[in-house]
Amino acid sequence: CGIVGIVGDAPVASRLVDALKRLEYRGYDSAGVATLEGGDISRRRAEGKLGNLAQKLAFEPLGGQVGIGHTRWATHGAPTETNAHPHATDRVAVVHNGIIENFRDLLADLAKDGYLPKTQTDTESVALWVSRELANGADPELAVARTLKQLKGAFALAFLFKGQEAMLIAARHGAPLAIGYGDTEMYLGSDAMALAPFTSRLTYLEDGDWAVITPAGVTIRDGKDAIVQREQQISQTSALLVDKGNHRHFMAKEIYEQPETISHTLSHYVDMGAEKVALRETLPFDFADLTRLTISACGTAYFAGAVAKYWFERHARLPVDIDVASEFRYREPPLEKGGLSLFISQSGETADTLAALRYCAGQGQHVASLVNTQESTIARESDVVFPILCGPEIGVASTKALTAQLTALAGLSIAAGRARGVLSAERENELVRALTALPAAVAKALAAESQIIDIAKRLSKAKDVLYLGRGPMFPIAMEGALKLKEISYIHAEGYAAGELKHGPIALVDEDMPVIVVAPSDELVDKTLSNMQEVAARGGKIILITDAEGAETAGHGISDVIIVPRVDSFVAPILACIPVQLLAYHTAVFMGTDVDQPRNLAKSVTVE
Ligand code: G6P
Repeated sequence: CGIVGIVGDAPVASRLVDALKRLEYRGYDSAGVATLEGGDISRRRAEGKLGNLAQKLAFEPLGGQVGIGHTRWATHGAPTETNAHPHATDRVAVVHNGIIENFRDLLADLAKDGYLPKTQTDTESVALWVSRELANGADPELAVARTLKQLKGAFALAFLFKGQEAMLIAARHGAPLAIGYGDTEMYLGSDAMALAPFTSRLTYLEDGDWAVITPAGVTIRDGKDAIVQREQQISQTSALLVDKGNHRHFMAKEIYEQPETISHTLSHYVDMGAEKVALRETLPFDFADLTRLTISACGTAYFAGAVAKYWFERHARLPVDIDVASEFRYREPPLEKGGLSLFISQSGETADTLAALRYCAGQGQHVASLVNTQESTIARESDVVFPILCGPEIGVASTKALTAQLTALAGLSIAAGRARGVLSAERENELVRALTALPAAVAKALAAESQIIDIAKRLSKAKDVLYLGRGPMFPIAMEGALKLKEISYIHAEGYAAGELKHGPIALVDEDMPVIVVAPSDELVDKTLSNMQEVAARGGKIILITDAEGAETAGHGISDVIIVPRVDSFVAPILACIPVQLLAYHTAVFMGTDVDQPRNLAKSVTVE
């Protein structure tokens, strides 16, 4: 989804639509704008592409020199005009990216005072809450400040108020927003792309910030409502399709985008209102009829599949074979007719994965793929394509594509579990709630960055690093090791924690950092006792866990990186964040070319 806003001195409606066009790459299925005409809020919204909105505006033009616009990718509620943003009462209009997790609680409270929703969106709860604050006498700033304190989730918001011709308010909580500076106007956008036609001078809001934007400038407050100064910078975007925002590398930007990209992916797979998985793709097979799922992929995408194996087997009791595509294709495994083969690929062009796909198609398998690039060869040759929807990934080392792949696979495993009669409706609701809470947890996990920088400084001195994990954390340990190898060139291995004593323990000494990925779940005690085997031999342990895991971890640990406690179903997705940040900052200390590491390619089209 995309957000734009203008506090201007000339009509804004068509300029808002132009700015939204530059955010089309993010994907959307409806769009809308709101402006003030004679002090009152007016809206135009349309289903489908921006052309429909532009046409509507041609027939029913919208005046006004202040306004907000939005492209929506349906999350709560179908992509209809009614559900399209901006959402408005007579007092306020709101556009929103991300998820308001507690919208049901908010609506229940609002209903007591007669504030009832007209749509199925989570966003409307925000518009209504602000309206009630305004009706109770708060000015717009106070109304927003109070409302923000009620909201749970990861989101970005922009507000337009009745009678306030020279003001917009914006808030960032886990989804990005930038303020643009013109000579006589001010702008707001989801990223520098949206702002490029207006200005290259901009400020990125930090997490928790909210901002009052007037023609004279912007006042930014942090999460505690204290006025803060944020750096103004010159964006290089205009010529580029995507830019680095205020990050040094694309990889950092992509790591930081994950609360938003995961929300985006979730919104495709999950009906958050009904707390159910709702697949939009027509399946050419029935999960209930399958006896086996065969997954092939390469690199990081392979680890996404390796985690999914645990999910499909546990939540759908569907046996899964998984292999790296380069091994699978030459092994020529026997495949049962009518089986399902799934191929995971960010680019959709990886030669080995494509060859494995063609082999399976030749063996009469149903061919499904999970790709980021819809126009790719793998997508074209598949019977059904599940989109990853994380936006263009530029850093060669994959980050946001992995968490989006995992999010989609989590959704598919729930769909399979339901179709196979394994998951009850209540269990499905629980798992979907766990997924819905994920973007906010990811935003919190990103906040451990400064501690991770400290650890990375020491890690950059290591020659070899061991990563350990058990169950679905095992693939994450392997991914952690892969990330470190790829971009810092430090040798690293990911091992199943239980295999430690069958070999790698021989390597453990005071110079060998051992990174243990063990958030609390039913397996954590086992992993922690493997960790103690390392501690007993003087190994330097870096433990990634949640607060409860840290309490039971015992002695001899050099560093503990705490991630928020989440349902163990989604814990592997969350655990990607610290391993990505560790690899990234270690590489920065090593001074390597983070976005384009030596010898590696983003898309490997040779076998
Ligand atoms: C290359 C990239 C990896 C990626 C792998 C598979 O090795 O450097 O980041 O995971 O290819 O790529 P795919 O596009 O198929 O996901």
